Amino acid sequence: MERKRWYKDMVFYQIWPRSFKDGNGDGMGDLWGVLEKLDYIKSLGCDGIWFSPIYPSPGADCGYDIADYMDIDPQFGGMEAFRQVLDGCHERGMKLIMDLVVNHTSDEHEWFQKSRQRIEPYTDYYIWRPAKPNGKLPNNWDSNFEGKAWTFDEVRGEYYLHLFAIKQPDLNMDNPLVREEVKKILRFWLDMGVDGFREDVITYISKPEGLPNDHLFPIYKGMSKYNHGPHIHEYLAEFKRDVLDHYDCFTLAEAPLVWPKRALKYIDEKNGQMDMMIQFQCVAADCLFTDYLPTKFNLRKMKRAFSSWQHKLSGRAWNMLYMENHDHPRIISRYGSEEFWRESGKTIATAFLFQQGTPFIYQGQEIGMLNWHPEDPEMYEDVQTRYTYAHSNLKKSPEVRLKKMWRSSRDSARTLVQWDDTPNAGFTTAEKPWFYANPNYTEINVAQQETDPDSILNFYRKAIALRKKLSCVRYGDYKEYQKNSGRLYVYSRQDDRQKILVVCSFSDKDTRFKAPKGFYMDGAEAALCNYPDPTSDTLRPYECRVYLWK
Ligand code: NOJ
Repeated sequence: MERKRWYKDMVFYQIWPRSFKDGNGDGMGDLWGVLEKLDYIKSLGCDGIWFSPIYPSPGADCGYDIADYMDIDPQFGGMEAFRQVLDGCHERGMKLIMDLVVNHTSDEHEWFQKSRQRIEPYTDYYIWRPAKPNGKLPNNWDSNFEGKAWTFDEVRGEYYLHLFAIKQPDLNMDNPLVREEVKKILRFWLDMGVDGFREDVITYISKPEGLPNDHLFPIYKGMSKYNHGPHIHEYLAEFKRDVLDHYDCFTLAEAPLVWPKRALKYIDEKNGQMDMMIQFQCVAADCLFTDYLPTKFNLRKMKRAFSSWQHKLSGRAWNMLYMENHDHPRIISRYGSEEFWRESGKTIATAFLFQQGTPFIYQGQEIGMLNWHPEDPEMYEDVQTRYTYAHSNLKKSPEVRLKKMWRSSRDSARTLVQWDDTPNAGFTTAEKPWFYANPNYTEINVAQQETDPDSILNFYRKAIALRKKLSCVRYGDYKEYQKNSGRLYVYSRQDDRQKILVVCSFSDKDTRFKAPKGFYMDGAEAALCNYPDPTSDTLRPYECRVYLWK
């Protein structure tokens, strides 16, 4: 079947289910809560939902440790609620994609339980290595979350590989039986009617033969060996050929440390194996590789990342556009300004929403939710945050260490969605939700912003509606101007029907702006802006404008 490209015209909304909305009053976000909010999501102009994992899971990594791939966790409402959400989406003309996490499972998955006991056919489902006589680990790889990538299992008497938490053992994708399991999972959900998959760290699934040691740098040790491993394209092509090509669906590859040239090997429309890619460069303009190595926000770095993906994929592959997800702190607190919260929230929205690609908006981004500042490190839930806090900067004071977490923790973006100003931000009727709300929910919340025409929420609605109206945003050429400016991000999009110029200030000062050559402002319509009277040649702090020529 020729796969359709409907996702190119869509805007997706990412739901991280635990914190989205509690529908049954037990303090945990669930699918009943999602059902209540489908019309809200649709009202943003979003026509698709990506669910972070909702399968049964012990929750060691908030669902990214799956214990059963073919069911829905009862705490989220089980299969019954899921079918209602799926139907609810389709009735509204919306699509739904699931998170496919097959680099690893939970250690509580039946496969792992049998593998550790060497029960066939599961013996080789995971990556096991015997202990070495000198007591050394099988290789020098680090896990992304909790120290070394190897843990000794007493039951089997061997080490198993885990690139993430100890409770997330890596699957052995070289085993054809494991690949058959992946195909079964894909078919199961596609047959039920889901419209595609976001594939978790999919570029890690093929490990090199012999599992060689990596470099000795203290960061990402192992990644240069297992990222983009030797059989990765072969395995992905197999999933595509045997399953995905037979359904009208799309796939989104999560790919840490990837650049456009490498990305094309996965998502080139002629011979790629997947459709879009989540790259990390656009969210790394204020850090080195990871949020845990923060630097000052560098606008030029952000612009270089945007433009390089726009240019290099042009005509060959399709971009996935995002500024936030559940793995990164909130973007206004990073690229914008909490002081100019409203203005910078809108400028950030404008900067990414008019590029070519399919935008994904993360829950709460549309109301400008900000980073959370817990006063006690014990309040953090995230496995990565807890490990990092306990093991790094130990010579610094507890206050300094905690502040570093405020800036870098994934939990900064996992607080409860702020629906209104009632207790617990209107997320639940329970007294004690599973997690915290940012105390600023009394000012920043959906209910308040619904009534304010000038809110960030209503700005997102306007920007998405404009994006959908303009063919040049979806299919036109992209060109960047004033590349050296450390304050402005300026780009145009143009097709044979229309042309737009997008101007975004990332400065808290007034900034002079001169239209690039060939743009005659007399004939331009100010189609979107975040201040009144967008005509002067001075941009106010974090001002953004979209000019349109028809
Ligand atoms: C990437 C996911 O987005 C993240 O939340 C998760 O912890 C890791 N992969 C491991 O599954």
